[in-house]
Amino acid sequence: MESKLIKTGTTEIDGLEFPVYEGTHGQDVIDIRALGKQTDKFTFDPGYTSTASCESQITFIDGDEGTLLYRGYPIEQLAENSDFIEAAYVLLGGDLPNAQELEDFRNNITYHTMVHEHFKNFFNGFRRDAHPMAVMCGAVGALSAFYHDSTDVNNPEHRQVAVHRMIAKMPTIAAMAYKYTVGQPFVFPRNDLQYTENFLNMCFSVPAEDYKVSEVCASALDKIFILHMDHEQNASTSTVRLAGSSGANPFACIAAGIACLWGPAHGGANEAALRMLMEIGSVDRIPEYIAKAKDKQDPFRLMGFGHRVYKNYDPRANVMRKATREVLDALDIKDPLFAVAKELERIALEDEYFVEKKLYPNIDFYSGITLRALGFPTDMFTALFALARTVGWIAQWQEMLSDPNQKIGRPRQIYTGAAKRDYVPMAGR
Ligand code: SDX
Repeated sequence: MESKLIKTGTTEIDGLEFPVYEGTHGQDVIDIRALGKQTDKFTFDPGYTSTASCESQITFIDGDEGTLLYRGYPIEQLAENSDFIEAAYVLLGGDLPNAQELEDFRNNITYHTMVHEHFKNFFNGFRRDAHPMAVMCGAVGALSAFYHDSTDVNNPEHRQVAVHRMIAKMPTIAAMAYKYTVGQPFVFPRNDLQYTENFLNMCFSVPAEDYKVSEVCASALDKIFILHMDHEQNASTSTVRLAGSSGANPFACIAAGIACLWGPAHGGANEAALRMLMEIGSVDRIPEYIAKAKDKQDPFRLMGFGHRVYKNYDPRANVMRKATREVLDALDIKDPLFAVAKELERIALEDEYFVEKKLYPNIDFYSGITLRALGFPTDMFTALFALARTVGWIAQWQEMLSDPNQKIGRPRQIYTGAAKRDYVPMAGR
């Protein structure tokens, strides 16, 4: 990656001048790398609310406008016109591919979808009721035990094959995690199917009969995967970058990202949001839950609402809501939870608390209703998020390794513990 920071001036901190850089879009940054050395101070920013951890050229979010760009292309345009493999190429390569580039990339992914035959044994250690995310954490972390020929992060060929393997095998592993929990045999990937069709076939076909992947379902899920692919330096992507900064192999880094994504404040929110809608159950109970969400004494939050960056509508939620309507209509499903979700959204968006705090629906608010309509159990929702986000994680991991400013991540702290003191032998206590 070639750094494209443009120095626009300096700003004074503690009487010293620090460089200010501007990027293509978004806020300028103050380069404080020398602050700790030149002053006796660190910055203090728990949760990194005002901290740019890196320079990146992959994704940009304008939280005030509610826009999301993958390599400059608006997410709405990619969701409408692209497919998973082309969108993945854009995130990894930086530009829209020509026909040959797209075919070559599609083949590279297709021909890495199988997993080592011994990999199946790994699943047998889990209970059948294991959460698919627990299985994914373990299984993906174990990949490095099978692919020693692509774990040298300083070798460009290793990095390239690891990228292809990661993107190609995630659907196979996610489908295996699902099949294992429902007690059905694993289904091999098929090279004649497109990426998302292949995943649906591995999830829902059974040896006992022919299975035809629904084009409506495949198209909707492909769009959902594109929406979930990348999102700047969110918690799980930052986890992957931090793990990768130590030189850890890509499979271990992605496993770390999966673990972080699982949290209900992050990728686990799609599962939590659907369970919340199921708990609310009907439109007349919405006021009770809105009150709970506003009650400072109550830890309950509206799952699928709010965002660290978006202080406007999450553009992905707009696309998700439209896809949900299309899928329910196409499959002729009357899901009462969709009516509860729309009424909850309407009420919340008029409520002073949500308006003042700029809390809008995020991508997780509607995704659960769509995924349930496509036939997935609730505990698979975050595994699907992880499948799609693997593209962003691996693209960010690649960029981090090629960043001229990259070094091992090692934040500092402000210490407020006990002052230095001597050990007291037992007799003196
Ligand atoms: C994802 O980072 C990413 O990009 C993530 C993601 C991605 O693609 O990678 O977009 C995916 O994680 C989407 C978010 C999914 N999470 C949820 O839907 C869980 C519910 N949302 C919240 O937990 C919360 O909004 C966060 C975690 C998403 C954001 O939290 P912040 O930025 O730390 O904001 P905050 O917790 O400081 O909230 C600000 C205020 C607080 O009130 P005050 O203390 O100022 O009085 O808003 C309140 C919060 O109590 N608040 C909510 C709320 N979210 C924030 N109150 C009720 N319900 C909510 N959902």
